[in-house]
Amino acid sequence: MWAQRLGRALVTRSSCRWISARIVDNSSIEVQPEKDSRPLTFPGVWLRDNCLCSDCFHDTSRSRKLDWDKFDTKVRPVSLRTEDQKQQKELVVQWSDSHESRFSLQWLQERSFEEKRQKSYLEDFYRPTTKHWAGAEFPSIARHFSYEEVMQKDSMLLEWLQTLAVHGVALLRGAPLDEGVVRRLAERVGFIRRTTYGEEFVVQAKPGAQNFAYLSLPLPLHTDLPYYEYKPSVNILHCVVQTESAGGSNLLVDAFHIADILRRDYPEDFERLSRVLVDWNDIGSEDGREFHNIWRAPVICLDAQGRYTRVNHSVPQRDSHFNVPLSEVLPWYESYARFVRLARKDAHAFKTQPGDVLTFNNIRLLHGRTGYDDSERNSRYIVGAYLDWDIIYSRLRVLKKGRDARQ
Ligand code: OGA
Ligand code: ZN
Ligand code: ZN
Repeated sequence: MWAQRLGRALVTRSSCRWISARIVDNSSIEVQPEKDSRPLTFPGVWLRDNCLCSDCFHDTSRSRKLDWDKFDTKVRPVSLRTEDQKQQKELVVQWSDSHESRFSLQWLQERSFEEKRQKSYLEDFYRPTTKHWAGAEFPSIARHFSYEEVMQKDSMLLEWLQTLAVHGVALLRGAPLDEGVVRRLAERVGFIRRTTYGEEFVVQAKPGAQNFAYLSLPLPLHTDLPYYEYKPSVNILHCVVQTESAGGSNLLVDAFHIADILRRDYPEDFERLSRVLVDWNDIGSEDGREFHNIWRAPVICLDAQGRYTRVNHSVPQRDSHFNVPLSEVLPWYESYARFVRLARKDAHAFKTQPGDVLTFNNIRLLHGRTGYDDSERNSRYIVGAYLDWDIIYSRLRVLKKGRDARQ
């Protein structure tokens, strides 16, 4: 056993051969997991904040219960020792507030502040990095899955959700032709995201349609529900009956790819489309309840790092109220027209067949439908539902943890 006194930066070794640790600058702890490995640095304040003892951490809820009203950010590690507990290597820290904390080496390694580890955590476990694609690349990025396999095998569920996260689209095949498929699939992941149009919705040509999609006219490229602040994340469209007439094909575009083109080739349009707030709206009634939805947001939404968070586009569901200075109007129209034309040119068309379930990211892809002839003998019947990314990512992480634990 050894102890390292505060303020001195010499390496002290424990009786176990595996680890050494030292206090650096009175504030951090440097841990060397193996003899020649690179040391991992952990800020003392962070370690103290993340103490796992029962006074500081509630085990079953996996939540911090440390009293933060009294938390001292000047807390310092005073001494260290290492222990070998049931195959677990542990670092034990004595703090300037007379508290003691212990951390397993594995716990520390999983949370190291090294760039490489943080990058893999953020780009795989947190949210898989997206890969943007042009319409012509669709055949090579589009993956098909068996509906039954996704329903039965966790490994296939994981693959489907990972594909959705990375490419924003995936097709499931061989689903039964009953109206419960979208619910069963959504519940395999989590639960349906309800909207003004209900939980499951039926897309078919209807007399007196309350939504532009419920016509057999061509449906121009759009995202669904841009008029919601919390826009549903993923569309599930189950083809139960497909029209035999020409038309009724789906159109898909990766709007993140279109945004990449604008950013590179038309920076002024990109800037305008990512700044000017557009009033998206939907007014109507469903099941006897009136609604008036509005959300103001740019076409291309960015986060503080300039990454895309969401794309909004819908010609029918853009409000005639346009609350911008007069000088912005015409330039915005020019930029939006460029976006729409670039997207149209890039659209990939394909026709789903009965039993196909098309799933795609509604905050990233634009989708549409070519017009078709609707008659009694020649109808089209699509059942839809939505899922939210919070629910999907959570499921994906749980599946990945299960897979990694088995490996
Ligand atoms: C919609 C829609 C696609 C289709 O209802 O918003 O995009 O294939 N439908 O009918
Ligand atoms: Zn504690
Ligand atoms: Zn739609």
